[in-house]
Amino acid sequence: MVLRDSSITTKTDLRINNEMAYYDQVDPATAEYVAVATTAELPNGARKLLEVDGRAIAVFNIAGTYYCIADVCSHDDGPVAEGELDAYEIECPRHGARFDVRNGKVLSFPAIVDIPAYPVKVEGDEVLIGLPPLE
Ligand code: FES
Repeated sequence: MVLRDSSITTKTDLRINNEMAYYDQVDPATAEYVAVATTAELPNGARKLLEVDGRAIAVFNIAGTYYCIADVCSHDDGPVAEGELDAYEIECPRHGARFDVRNGKVLSFPAIVDIPAYPVKVEGDEVLIGLPPLE
């Protein structure tokens, strides 16, 4: 599967007047699902960093629920998913911006833009993430 850059990080909800800019979230109903791990590889509290078609992705198991975000900080493109996780908040190890791994929402400076978040589902013992469909 090859995806265009704009299919993941297109900003369509750019807000002004002191509000933050939000990336599109991937619609679970139209996403194309790709297996990225087995459930055995991602026990409770684990995370997996990988590349899908050249894109850095991070998948988390938090209290038995799986979440997936892009592993690219919106502040300066750092590898955010290697940071410390506190409940659902991940802190970028470079400059400390925090994001919600459930939806990619930015929670603190120096980042001001959300990061992509992807739907996740489990089929059998496979964990699948949903990527935007090719147009
Ligand atoms: S690169 Fe993540 S906070 Fe700067």
